[in-house]
Amino acid sequence: MKKNLKELACFGGTPLFPEPLHVGRPNIGNRDHLMARITDMLDRRWLTNDGPFVKELEQRLASLMGVKHCVAMCNATVALEITARSLGLRGEVIVPSFTFVATAHALQWQEITPVFCDIDPVTHNIDPRKIESLITPRTTGILGVHVWGRACDVEALQSIAERHKLKLMFDAAHAFACTHNGKMVGGFGDAEVFSFHATKFFNSFEGGAVMTNNDDLARKIREMRNFGFAGVDTVINVGTNGKMSEVSAAMGLTSLESLDEFIEVNRRNYQAYAEGLANIAGLRLIDYDARESNNYQYIVLEVDESESGLSRDELVHILHAERILARRYFYPGVHQMEPYHSYFPNARLVLPETEKLTGKVLQLPTGTALSVPDIQDICALIRFSFENSAPIHELLSIKDKE
Ligand SMILES: Cc1ncc(COP(=O)(O)O)c(C=O)c1O
Repeated sequence: MKKNLKELACFGGTPLFPEPLHVGRPNIGNRDHLMARITDMLDRRWLTNDGPFVKELEQRLASLMGVKHCVAMCNATVALEITARSLGLRGEVIVPSFTFVATAHALQWQEITPVFCDIDPVTHNIDPRKIESLITPRTTGILGVHVWGRACDVEALQSIAERHKLKLMFDAAHAFACTHNGKMVGGFGDAEVFSFHATKFFNSFEGGAVMTNNDDLARKIREMRNFGFAGVDTVINVGTNGKMSEVSAAMGLTSLESLDEFIEVNRRNYQAYAEGLANIAGLRLIDYDARESNNYQYIVLEVDESESGLSRDELVHILHAERILARRYFYPGVHQMEPYHSYFPNARLVLPETEKLTGKVLQLPTGTALSVPDIQDICALIRFSFENSAPIHELLSIKDKE
């Protein structure tokens, strides 16, 4: 516990943690089960191409999410590309800028123009009230992102999509095992795409999946995932290689067995953060609706500098020095990244809430690698920093000039 400013690592004190604490450190299930599955896989010599583990994972995930089809993929980015293409998206697609760059890249990669829409500052998700003014004759779809696992306003998006005859797909990379109005994310819109990347709540090393209730779409996605093959020697369309390997599926099946434990640990951690960070002026921990199922994978803070006296970047600087590797997702917003910044240099004018949020948001470590006492220490450090915001701010600016 830091007692005076000199003890802060950014001013020469000893870091709070001997080893770095990462955001998105992988959750790892039962090693013995994973090793047993890998042994089976090697014995079978069936390493990829729709193997038994991939099939089993697809069945289990479809049933978990109450969706007709699950198509496992090598990652979510390729899954987004294949889904957009299978849905026939072209021209322009409306998408938030407050997301990981892959959401927009998956469109741009196919020469579909992402049209950035602002977000609701409370939910951090695409704001349905701002979509219709962005629709043009070239618009073919809406791509919503369930940021932090908190579902978009699915009903509002659905009704806009129906009114304008647009396709609706979701980037559900964050929303594994989360519900919206009691219904598992996975079955909304025309299709939803999940990421099973190592940093995600549920991981298969690398991986992802598309969920859909549409038979025809599922068939097209399966074909495209496998180079456009419709039979042993029959190729009926241009496709790519989006297949999930057996070793990834083995990890996915193993992760699935520990789902309840992962959620419980993340919920416990979230609770510890909520208690430790309560009533700090200028600091807000985003909340999760307790009536829904949540995976609590993201500990997201908003720093209001005018109230706290400390900026988000100053807080990140303090935390990094203590080896707490907080992140600034999704700074600076996809519209500020290339090629989008060059294509739409004025995008920020229609994205005021995105601009504000990218300047004040940060994420803290959580997951099975973190203990409650660690979290209490992190919270005490943050509280200390805000209680001493004025002298810290001053010392940091002097240091900056040196
Ligand atoms: C919102 C979002 N979309 C897409 C992706 C891309 O997923 P993947 O790494 O599986 O391609 C990620 C994270 O990596 C993400 O956070």
